[in-house]
Amino acid sequence: MTRFDPAGPLSGTLTPPPDKSISHRAALFGAMSDEPVTIRRYLRAADTVATLDALRSLGAGVEEEDDDVVVRGVGLRTAQASTGGLLDVRNAGTLLRILPGWLAGQPGGVWTLDGDESIRRRPVDRVVAPLRRMGAQIEARDGRVPPLTIHGTELTGAHHDLPVASAQVKSCVLIAGLLAEGDTTVREPAPSRDHTERILRRSRVPFERERGVLRVGPVDELELDEIAVPGDPSSAAFLAAAACCIPGSRIVLCDVGLNWTRTAFFRIAERMGAVVLADLEEPLDEGESPASTEEPVGELDVAAAPLVGTTVEGDEVPLAIDELPLVALLGCLADGETVVRGAEELRHKESDRIVGVVEGLRGLGGGIEATEDGFAVRGGALRGGTLDARGDHRLAMLGAVAGLASESGVEVVGMETAAVSYPSFESDLRSLLS
Ligand code: S3P
Repeated sequence: MTRFDPAGPLSGTLTPPPDKSISHRAALFGAMSDEPVTIRRYLRAADTVATLDALRSLGAGVEEEDDDVVVRGVGLRTAQASTGGLLDVRNAGTLLRILPGWLAGQPGGVWTLDGDESIRRRPVDRVVAPLRRMGAQIEARDGRVPPLTIHGTELTGAHHDLPVASAQVKSCVLIAGLLAEGDTTVREPAPSRDHTERILRRSRVPFERERGVLRVGPVDELELDEIAVPGDPSSAAFLAAAACCIPGSRIVLCDVGLNWTRTAFFRIAERMGAVVLADLEEPLDEGESPASTEEPVGELDVAAAPLVGTTVEGDEVPLAIDELPLVALLGCLADGETVVRGAEELRHKESDRIVGVVEGLRGLGGGIEATEDGFAVRGGALRGGTLDARGDHRLAMLGAVAGLASESGVEVVGMETAAVSYPSFESDLRSLLS
């Protein structure tokens, strides 16, 4: 157990770790390229190391140089079934959902994707169904969960109307579309993170976005040489949340990704009364593409102020999905009620995050109730106690921040799981207290 006593205010300047979502994608696109791709500031965390290892098993060369990684790819159409075709994704849900898009279109290859106990509970039917519509031969245990076996084959383009706004599913089918005959189109019910789309444009493949429909066509190769990974706004959010709710705090976070599909938490925190100064990218319209294929990066300057409750509706949910536990925490410390709706996807994360957040914060004295698709919080204070991370990195980090903001401190069970996305989280957080 790791103890976090009431402390603060936070002050100072820090650069959060590189973005997990972009690191996974950069490595995969590197492996699919013919020419070497340099990834500037690759995230070295459990999830993204699992991706490098899986890509090595598929024949890619991976050279680690200080903060950077150079991936020597095998080309789009030549993934190799080495090591018996068994790929261990460990705890990495993004790898589990995105990689099948590439493997499904490699005729002759056979692979099985498996992982840890938590990954074996994560639904994969959401990628199996659309890939099958493209002709993929793919089977999951009980039709829904890993292990997932893929027999590579020729694919045909299809239209996908996604039932949930999932960047993982969208990325999977867009990547499969690069290998399929004919066009592949995707419509999502609401925008989700768009890093794959930005990398596709950067790779000079036929890709467009028109009235909310994404379209990709087949290519023989990708043209990519370098991808720079910004700081992870989801990791930054845990430090920012601590600064929002601990009186007298003010911190500056540098080199943070400010892509509008990732920064809704900062807008929500601002709505709740926190002082957030940042040049956040403005939301793009349905037909609009970002002006640059580079991810927007900048500084986040965050200061505490009295908080009030807010409501988060379905459209905002995919844009703040990994930070919703922090909205619950701020809600527990705010004046009035905070409600999150349309967030049933939280039940399918590294743990059932509706249950984990609600039971976790209630155990600390928080006035929070679960609803079918989110939670409702009555603001007040947090007494303190013990919070079980349930093997979920974001719950572990939530418990740490709650401890600093509580009256009597929090013991976090399973703090080490923060290493899935943010290995230096505890020391970074404590460094802002000194
Ligand atoms: C991710 C997308 C989100 C997010 C996850 C990372 C990605 O999942 O929760 O942490 O990198 O594409 P969904 O696509 O399932 O919503």
